[in-house]
Amino acid sequence: MAHRREFLQQALVLLGAGMCAPALAAWLQSCSSETKQPTEPGGTVELDLSTVPELQQVGGAVKRTFGQHNGGQPVLIIRLAEQQFVVFSTVCTHAGCEVGLPQSGRIPCPCHGSQFATSDGRVLQGPASSPLKRFASEYDPARNVLKISF
Ligand code: FES
Repeated sequence: MAHRREFLQQALVLLGAGMCAPALAAWLQSCSSETKQPTEPGGTVELDLSTVPELQQVGGAVKRTFGQHNGGQPVLIIRLAEQQFVVFSTVCTHAGCEVGLPQSGRIPCPCHGSQFATSDGRVLQGPASSPLKRFASEYDPARNVLKISF
């Protein structure tokens, strides 16, 4: 009886290891992709701007997701000037839809028509009544890296 129990336990362990192999491979792959945009302790991310064509020009904007930062939702990064950037959550403060890319200085929400200012995320048009959540960022021109604090 004890032998049979041991056999079953070993079989379950082996079966479990076999079932986990694809998950393990996916996990290892996700680790390797994270090394391209390292996440530092304390909730900061460094983005190498040479890898982001949308941000080469003043006025450029791009959405990016950084793992579980911002609840796993994308952030909107806008280049306001040569060395000035702003980073907002893309989650609309009205009912949670994802806002669009900026147009003519305004960040539109496709769901109910709210609009937010690209400069500081304040509401320009409702129904939203609160500004977009903003994350602190710091540009290092020597390295062409934008450091975002979550
Ligand atoms: S969710 Fe954005 S305007 Fe309603």
